[in-house]
Amino acid sequence: MRAQVAIIGAGPAGLLLGQLLYKAGIDAVILEQRTPEYVLGRIRAGVLEQGTVDILDLAGVSERLHAHALTHDGVEIGASGHRHRIAFKDLVGKVVTVYGQTEVTRDLMDARAACGAPSIYEAESVEVHDITSARPSVTFTHQGAKRRLECDFIAGCDGYHGVSRRSIPVEALSVFERTYPFGWLGVLADVPPAWDELIYADSERGFALASMRSETRVRCYVQCSLEDKVEQWSDERFWAEFKLRVGEDVASRMHIGPSIEKSIAPLRSFVAEPMRYGQLFLAGDAAHIVPPTGAKGLNLAASDVFYLYEALTGYYKAESRAALDHYSERALRRVWQAVRFSWWMTSLLHRFPGEDPFSSRIRASELQYLFASEAAQRTLAENYVGLPL
Ligand code: FAD
Ligand code: DHB
Repeated sequence: MRAQVAIIGAGPAGLLLGQLLYKAGIDAVILEQRTPEYVLGRIRAGVLEQGTVDILDLAGVSERLHAHALTHDGVEIGASGHRHRIAFKDLVGKVVTVYGQTEVTRDLMDARAACGAPSIYEAESVEVHDITSARPSVTFTHQGAKRRLECDFIAGCDGYHGVSRRSIPVEALSVFERTYPFGWLGVLADVPPAWDELIYADSERGFALASMRSETRVRCYVQCSLEDKVEQWSDERFWAEFKLRVGEDVASRMHIGPSIEKSIAPLRSFVAEPMRYGQLFLAGDAAHIVPPTGAKGLNLAASDVFYLYEALTGYYKAESRAALDHYSERALRRVWQAVRFSWWMTSLLHRFPGEDPFSSRIRASELQYLFASEAAQRTLAENYVGLPL
């Protein structure tokens, strides 16, 4: 089997790259270790930057998004029993789009199926070979048979636990990491949201986020201990805790319902540099992870993919390697901006176990400054809606 580009991973990064390349007439095969149902069952991000929507437009997969997604002009930040609106549109003239990662993935899967481009699901034991040569390949086992995919380039879009980054010699990679001493417990429920815009709430009991997927479905999170297990959190316990954190007015008017998904995610910042080794290019969570505060993970995956798409089209259409050689540096510049912003939002809005009184005062003072200063609000807004591609 041969393709110009072998894509490892059919998450949003791999599927989006596949679709952009298909539209450009570059053939790619996607190898995914899980089933399509498993990939669609993972409930993750919910907020898209305008730049991400533009890339989905370019890929020709945004019809359903434009018909069903919600547009938000701002968010609310809650602290000390009050809420303050950060008015994106007024402050920086941009908005964000609320549309779940599951829906983005479904649209991309449908588009790939419609154009007949090849995806191999349940590809086991994926391994990359000869990545520093001009003729790399990927081997895998499918339905019991060992297969080899020969290619010009490999796109490692296989997430944090994937094989691509681990195939790069450790001495060729620099890794930067920060773990946070808490996780997020998330619940999805079919009830109408009692909030018009997302609420990021700091409270004495810890952080909470009120989000949504549609006019009839909410996604809510509470900061939890890293030791917590999902089974310890009944729906009743979750909603009681969420109400205590989100603020009395919202708590008194909100609807609750049975969870249709409940999961705990640890929070971490992680960057591996460079994002290229020979003919292997990393994109999305394969190269970097951000804590979810700030909603940057999926958006970064989309911007990496856009840069990689431009680099590959530069090579195939204009016979130029310049953008391929520049890919890692270009992507990392944007990655670090999002790493910084997500770290800052996380530090501002979470109670750290054992936080010393000085740190508490600094955090409280930063929140006061944010609420009082239009300059500070503009900085938050500029980063939240997404820095330019
Ligand atoms: P992934 O979505 O991880 O996709 C990688 C794909 O590669 C997967 O389908 C995987 O099965 C496949 N794969 C892995 N290994 C192999 C292999 N060896 N061979 C073949 N295929 C392989 N971001 C936000 O902005 N907001 C959020 O609320 C949010 N919540 C999150 C919650 C969790 C639990 C996690 C893990 C992430 C969350 N994120 C969130 C981050 C966001 O979902 C990711 O940034 C986004 O999924 C990145 O897309 P990706 O395609 O790079 O990676
Ligand atoms: C959602 C997740 C986030 O991490 C975030 O910052 C905003 C929204 C969500 O799942 O809806």
